[in-house]
Amino acid sequence: MLGTWSFSARALGAAWPGLAQGGKALDAAVVACTMAEEDPAVDSVGYGGLPDADGQVSLDGCVMLAPGRAGSVACLKRHRHPVRVARMVMERTRHLMLAGEAADRFADEAGELREEVLAPEAAAAWKRWMEQAVGDALAAGTAVEREGVIDASLAPGPRPVDPGAGGPLFLSQERRWWGHDTIGAIVRDRAGTIAGACSTSGTPFKLPGRVGDSPIIGHGLYVDPAAGAAVATGTGELISAVCGSFLVVEGMRAGKSAVESIRAALERIERSFSLEPQHQAAFVALRADGDHAGGALRNGFLYSRQDGQGCTVSPATVVLRGD
Ligand code: GLY
Repeated sequence: MLGTWSFSARALGAAWPGLAQGGKALDAAVVACTMAEEDPAVDSVGYGGLPDADGQVSLDGCVMLAPGRAGSVACLKRHRHPVRVARMVMERTRHLMLAGEAADRFADEAGELREEVLAPEAAAAWKRWMEQAVGDALAAGTAVEREGVIDASLAPGPRPVDPGAGGPLFLSQERRWWGHDTIGAIVRDRAGTIAGACSTSGTPFKLPGRVGDSPIIGHGLYVDPAAGAAVATGTGELISAVCGSFLVVEGMRAGKSAVESIRAALERIERSFSLEPQHQAAFVALRADGDHAGGALRNGFLYSRQDGQGCTVSPATVVLRGD
């Protein structure tokens, strides 16, 4: 099992016993993401995730087994577990993706519990953001107010950095509130089936309605049993622009190693954008033969690996830039 950021170590650990007893890869990937979604200490996923500029949390996620076996949801506002709902989209409909209010209604009808998605810590962080950061950004001209909604999407800010403690990437870092991250899990089970899942609350204080890479098949996650799997985290706009996870898997299909494939996707992002200081993009990839790696544009990304020997949290195998 592989997961993005150090907080995924706890999530993979929770899913491991079931997998070790012969459980299925998809079940384990969903359990791992569900655990992170439930954890209020994770400020970028599920309950605990930082809200949009209106103070509302909206959650995105997807699951994938193969090009013909995937499901996703975007902008859930009443349910904490986008990966579970995404799995229901895959298993109970002929569609790939549901979004917005209708996705919440689908979750209701599928029997998912309606729950508060805004944790008190996240609400307090939004209040501080409104009181402190927004004023500075409005004064600097990097945020605008339109009909009462703050658009701070042009405001610069530091990127997420993982201190390795398995907790928040943003709340512990004063004014590091504009980055992005995601839990992504890739799992291979005893039968050799590979499954992936990813879940996010998206960019903190995003413009309401913004959707990043995570729920889009091929962007935030891609799995093809013939080639391997990749999951992304970081600035969704960068990752989506190059169909990042698909690009990594296509690299592996062409015979590159996991680390070479990640490097090529990161180089494509670097070539395609004028990178800003807050930008980060990272991938974790698993080739069908077990070769795997994690890589990032910049320092500060950690990934977790859980197997029969236990769990390790490691820095990226490849970091493209030294800054
Ligand atoms: N990578 C998560 C997002 O940008 O929403």
